[in-house]
Amino acid sequence: MYSLLLWLFLSTIDAIVLTQIHRSAIYNPNSTCAILWNVPLSSPDASIQSCIGQCVHEAQCQTAVYFHDDRVCSMFAENCRSGKVLPSVNIQASVICYRKNPDSNTNCPSTASSTPAVIQITKNWTMARSMAVTRAYHIASVLTDGKVLVAGGSLNIAELYDPTTSNWTTTYNVNIARERSTASILSNGNVLVAGGFNGASLNSAELYNPIIRNWSLTGSMAVGRDYHTASVLTDGKVLVAGGQNGGYLDSTELYDPSTGTWATTRNMTIQRYRHTASMLSNGKVLVIGGYGNGVYQNSAELYDPTAGAWTATGNISAAREYLVSSLLLDGKVLVTGGYGDSRSSNVAELYDPTVGTWTTTGSMIFARYGHTATVLADGKVLVAGGRNDNGFHSCTELYNPTTGNWSILENMHSARSYHTATLLSNRTVLVTGGNNGSIALKSAELY
Ligand SMILES: *[C@@H]1O[C@H](CO)[C@@H](O)[C@H](O)[C@H]1NC(C)=O
Ligand SMILES: *[C@@H]1O[C@H](CO)[C@@H](O)[C@H](O)[C@H]1NC(C)=O
Ligand SMILES: *[C@@H]1O[C@H](CO)[C@@H](O)[C@H](O)[C@H]1NC(C)=O
Ligand SMILES: *[C@@H]1O[C@H](CO)[C@@H](O)[C@H](O)[C@H]1NC(C)=O
Ligand SMILES: *[C@@H]1O[C@H](CO)[C@@H](O)[C@H](O)[C@H]1NC(C)=O
Ligand SMILES: *[C@@H]1O[C@H](CO)[C@@H](O)[C@H](O)[C@H]1NC(C)=O
Ligand SMILES: *[C@@H]1O[C@H](CO)[C@@H](O)[C@H](O)[C@H]1NC(C)=O
Ligand SMILES: *[C@@H]1O[C@H](CO)[C@@H](O)[C@H](O)[C@H]1NC(C)=O
Ligand SMILES: *[C@@H]1O[C@H](CO)[C@@H](O)[C@H](O)[C@H]1NC(C)=O
Repeated sequence: MYSLLLWLFLSTIDAIVLTQIHRSAIYNPNSTCAILWNVPLSSPDASIQSCIGQCVHEAQCQTAVYFHDDRVCSMFAENCRSGKVLPSVNIQASVICYRKNPDSNTNCPSTASSTPAVIQITKNWTMARSMAVTRAYHIASVLTDGKVLVAGGSLNIAELYDPTTSNWTTTYNVNIARERSTASILSNGNVLVAGGFNGASLNSAELYNPIIRNWSLTGSMAVGRDYHTASVLTDGKVLVAGGQNGGYLDSTELYDPSTGTWATTRNMTIQRYRHTASMLSNGKVLVIGGYGNGVYQNSAELYDPTAGAWTATGNISAAREYLVSSLLLDGKVLVTGGYGDSRSSNVAELYDPTVGTWTTTGSMIFARYGHTATVLADGKVLVAGGRNDNGFHSCTELYNPTTGNWSILENMHSARSYHTATLLSNRTVLVTGGNNGSIALKSAELY
């Protein structure tokens, strides 16, 4: 009955070792091995990989059986090598066996390729030199000379990563240490760092001048805010929206780089924090989701700089905060993951600015929030880290906008959430810091 038995040799440093897959055999879920539960997988992402992901995220799961016809993933608490999951005569299924490393609290799997039959390891993550200090909820911006400015977290130290030397150097300190601020590259090459949190929400803002490598305070916002968004408009002004300062904010403000001052502009239709904002190619700003007005938000709205007004646009399929948006090369916006309805989300959906509506695309293999999503030079999207309800992720996956599906990549060396991921001019992605579930990190990695 067992038509194939594949042994898979995967990196021993990985927390969970996928030991074998019995493939295309006929299995019976009837087993003396206690079933944990069945998870129906929705198309279009129903796949053996999703089932692997489900099992990996279920602490007790040692064996998963993926029923191809029904798209159901059954999870068992015992290893299939004990023979407790038995072949049957009438069900097409794949059995996935794990050996989990009990010493690890990582919730991610070993690498699996997009083809379930052959598991390949792609070694695409390498350690970079570590930063001078640990950081989470910090900022990273590519300067016009290609260096990456990293600042923020709990300390006032700022540093530069030089991709040509692969080295870090500290630069002058920020005036005020900030977590959860925004960072925007202005048209003159300066970086505007606005708001954030340092025991209280901050209304101050400062500018980094890459020529003199120093910071200076600029005009302050009308209100303190953190977990807000900032978008550079086509006229060079910076739109800051929402956030929180004890209460949730619907207010928005515009920074004028020529005067260094802020002006209050119209409120969003609702309060939002932990939302996301994308600058569209038509010059409008798309703000999505978040939490406000007492609920997780499924709504999205557009800021039109010409009219200075906000208008509602299509809703996303599931209300959530902590989601991430990415402007794809074709002008569509991909939103991934987030947290809502008491759980983390693997949902991914696409906004088409020409029609103002959302469509779901392949779901991520792993539910996550507090992750990063980086559009690579070839248009694919690298999603890295984040966390789910059980722990912090080192797992990464890649979205292919042509097929709308996801493939698992090698894990990062560290689990990290609330980190940064920056595309360097040489097409490499620099990931810095973040929190691994117990501490903030100094370490950095390259994809
Ligand atoms: C379940 O498996 C046991 C053997 O473990 C077998 O005796 C029993 O007939 C099976 N039940 C069904 C409904 O297949
Ligand atoms: C991994 O890196 C190699 C060498 O740079 C590259 O050829 C390959 O396409 C990369 N794989 C992925 C999945 O990015
Ligand atoms: C790109 O820059 C990174 C970081 O300095 C470096 O490690 C990598 O080798 C570079 N890649 C190429 C293709 O030059
Ligand atoms: C990297 O930076 C450190 C300190 O900033 C310096 O001592 C070292 O020489 C640099 N290495 C390279 C290769 O530039
Ligand atoms: C850097 O800027 C700060 C104010 O933001 C100022 O106090 C300090 O003197 C400057 N340092 C240098 C070397 O210019
Ligand atoms: C925005 O909303 C706040 C309450 O959240 C209100 O006090 C303020 O007047 C509004 N501002 C504008 C420009 O509508
Ligand atoms: C969007 O969702 C809100 C609830 O958050 C609902 O009131 C509104 O009718 C929805 N809009 C559309 C176009 O479905
Ligand atoms: C990827 O997308 C293609 C086209 O939509 C689909 O036929 C294929 O089954 C998908 N592959 C996976 C592994 O989901
Ligand atoms: C976080 O990193 C530290 C230092 O490397 C390590 O001791 C700790 O076990 C890690 N925690 C988690 C949850 O991975």
